[in-house]
Amino acid sequence: MNTRPIGVFDSGLGGLTILKTLSKALPKEKLIYFGDTVNVPYGSKSKAAVTRFSLDIARFMQRQGVKLIVVACNTASALALAELQKKISVPVIGVILPGAMKAAQCTRNGKVAIIATEATVQSKAYPRALKRLDKRIRTYQRACPVFVPLIEEGWIHHSAGEQIISDYLDGVVKSGADTVILGCTHYPVIKKKIAARLGKNVKLVDSAEVLAQEVKTRLSQTDQLNPSGRGSMKIYASDAPARFKRLAKNILGRELNRVYLKKLN
Ligand code: DGL
Repeated sequence: MNTRPIGVFDSGLGGLTILKTLSKALPKEKLIYFGDTVNVPYGSKSKAAVTRFSLDIARFMQRQGVKLIVVACNTASALALAELQKKISVPVIGVILPGAMKAAQCTRNGKVAIIATEATVQSKAYPRALKRLDKRIRTYQRACPVFVPLIEEGWIHHSAGEQIISDYLDGVVKSGADTVILGCTHYPVIKKKIAARLGKNVKLVDSAEVLAQEVKTRLSQTDQLNPSGRGSMKIYASDAPARFKRLAKNILGRELNRVYLKKLN
C-alpha cells in the first residue's frame, strides 16, 4: 500500500506550485500530476462542469492506484471537494482549508483579503472557512480572472501584465488587509510581482506548505508513507503536452523528461 502514488491535479500548470512543495516535503513518494489543459480555465466555469472534470480526473487517478488525491486547484476545491470526497474511495484533500488556517494564524489586524478566480470568489469558500476558524476575521475578495491566462501564456514579464496586476490589486491595498491569500494555485508564480504591489507590510499566504504537512500527517497516521522509495513524478496533460512541458519548466525550475497526453473523454 505505501508504495502507491499520490495523485495531484489542477486545471493546468498552477498545481505544479503545489507539486513542487509536495515533492520537497515527501521526496520518497511517487507523484502523479494531471493538468487538465483541455478544460482550463476552471475559474470561469460552472460548478457542474468543474465537478464533472474533477470526478473524471479523480477516477483516472484511482485507476492508477493512488493512495490519496490532492486537489491542487482552489476552484475545484471550492466547487467539487465535497462531491469528490463522497464519490472517491481514497482520501481527497483540498487547498482551501490549509490556506485559510495559515491566514488566520498570520493576520494581526484581523483583515484578510483573498485573490482568486471568479468561481472561487463566488463560492465564498474562503470567507466561510476563515469565519469558522475565527469569527472576528473580516474578509475582502477580489477575482483576478486575467492572471491565469497571463501565467499560462507566459506573459508575466510583459508590461501589460504589470498593469493588470496593479489594477486588480488596487482594492486589496485599500481594504487594509495585512494578510492576502493567493487563492489560486497559479498565483505563486507571480508572487514577487504581487508582493511588490502590496508592499512589505502585507503577508502573502498560499496553501502549499500547510497542505504538504497535512498530506504527510494523513499518510503517517494510516501508516502509508513510503519511507524507502526513490521519489518520482509522472505528469499527464489532457491537451498539448509539449507546450505544457515547455511552460512547466518556469514553475518547477527544471526540465521534465516527458509529459504524457491523456484524454479522459
Ligand atoms: N489554478 C486553479 C485554482 O487554483 C484554477 C485556475 C483556473 O483554471 O481558472 O483556482
